[in-house]
Amino acid sequence: MWRAKLKSTGAYLPQREVLNRDLEPLMETSDAWIQERSGIQSRRFSDLSNETCSKMGAFAAREALERAAWSATDPDLLIFSTLSPDYYFPGAGVLAQRELGLANIPCLDIRAQCSGFIYGLSVAQAYIESGRANRILLICSEAQSALMELSTRGRNVSVLFGDAAAAICLEASPFDGSNSRFGLIDSLVHADGRFAEELVQQNPGTRQSPIASADMIGRGEMLPYMNGPAVFKHATVRFREALTELIGRTGISAEQWDWFIPHQANQRISLHVASELSIPEGKLISNIQNRGNTTSASIPLALHESICSGQIQPGDLIAMAAFGSGFTWGAALLQY
Ligand code: COA
Repeated sequence: MWRAKLKSTGAYLPQREVLNRDLEPLMETSDAWIQERSGIQSRRFSDLSNETCSKMGAFAAREALERAAWSATDPDLLIFSTLSPDYYFPGAGVLAQRELGLANIPCLDIRAQCSGFIYGLSVAQAYIESGRANRILLICSEAQSALMELSTRGRNVSVLFGDAAAAICLEASPFDGSNSRFGLIDSLVHADGRFAEELVQQNPGTRQSPIASADMIGRGEMLPYMNGPAVFKHATVRFREALTELIGRTGISAEQWDWFIPHQANQRISLHVASELSIPEGKLISNIQNRGNTTSASIPLALHESICSGQIQPGDLIAMAAFGSGFTWGAALLQY
C-alpha cells in the first residue's frame, strides 16, 4: 500500500506590496472598513511583465523541487490549480512545465477556485494510493489582481484578494496500514453548482462572444462578481460540515490536531469556524493580514510559511479546509 507524504513546500510572493491605504485614493473604502470586515492589512499585486500566474507558479515550484532535492526528471505528474490562468487555453500547467523544464509528464489543470489546493490534494492522493504516480508536484498560483477593478464599483471584491503562488512535492511512501497518522491521512471534496453565479467571472466565456465589446467592458461583465453575504453564510456552514466529516472519517478529533489552516478568505470566517469546532485560537494559522485572499494558493502558502518559521514541526497533525466559488469545498488531514 502507498500513501502520499509531504516532501517539501515552496512559495513565491510578488514584490509589490499594496497597503489598504494605497487603495483609498482609488475607491470609496478605508483601511478601517477593510480591517474590520476581513482582517486584511495588505496584500501583494503581481507585475505581469514577469510575475504571471504560470511564472509565479514555477518560481514557487523551483523552491519546492530544490527542498525535495528533486531534479526536473523526478516528478511524474504536475497538478496546477488557478482561477487566474495566463491564457484561456491551454492551461497554466503546461506553461509551468515548460518554465521548469520538466519531462513530458501529464499536466492536469484544476479549476476549483479557492478549494483548488484541497481538490489537488485529493487527486494526488488518488494517483499515489492507486500506484499511478510516485512523485507529484502540486502548484497553486494566482495572479488575480489582473482581474480586479480598482474602483468603487469593484471594491467588495478588489480589497479582499491578493496574488501569490505556492507549491508542494508529494511522494509515495510505503504504508502498512498500522500507523494511520502518517502522510496525507485523508482528503474529501464537495461541490454544489446551484450557487455558481454567487461568486463568478462570466466573461470571457462561450455563452457570450468571447470577443469583448466596449459595452461588455463598460457594464463590468469582464469582472468578478461576488454576493459577499451569501458567500459568507455558505462558507461558514460548509467549512463546519467538511471538518466534521473529516473527523468522522479519520477518527481523529479536532482536539488532536496540532494546527488548523483554513483557506484564508476572511479572518472573521476563520475565527467563526475555529470557535464552532472549539479549536483554540493558538492552533489557527492565519496569514490573511498581509497576504489577503490568495485563492487556491492560500493554504499551501500558509503551510509553507509556518514550516519555514518553525511553527509547524515534523510529526505535527495539520487539518486544512477550504470553500470557494462553485460552490466548492473540502478538507484534508496531513501529518507533516
Ligand atoms: N469599502 C467600503 N465599503 C464597502 C466595501 C469596501 N471595500 N465593499 C462593500 N462596501 C459596502 C457595501 O456597498 C455596503 O454598503 P451599503 O450598506 O450602503 O449597501 C456595505 O459596505 C456592507 O456591505 P456588505 O456586503 O453587506 O458587507 P459585509 O459585512 O457582508 O462584508 C464582505 C463584505 C465581502 C467582507 C463579506 O461579505 C465577506 O467577507 N464575504 C465572504 C467573502 C469571501 O470569503 N469570499 C471569498 C470566498 S472564497
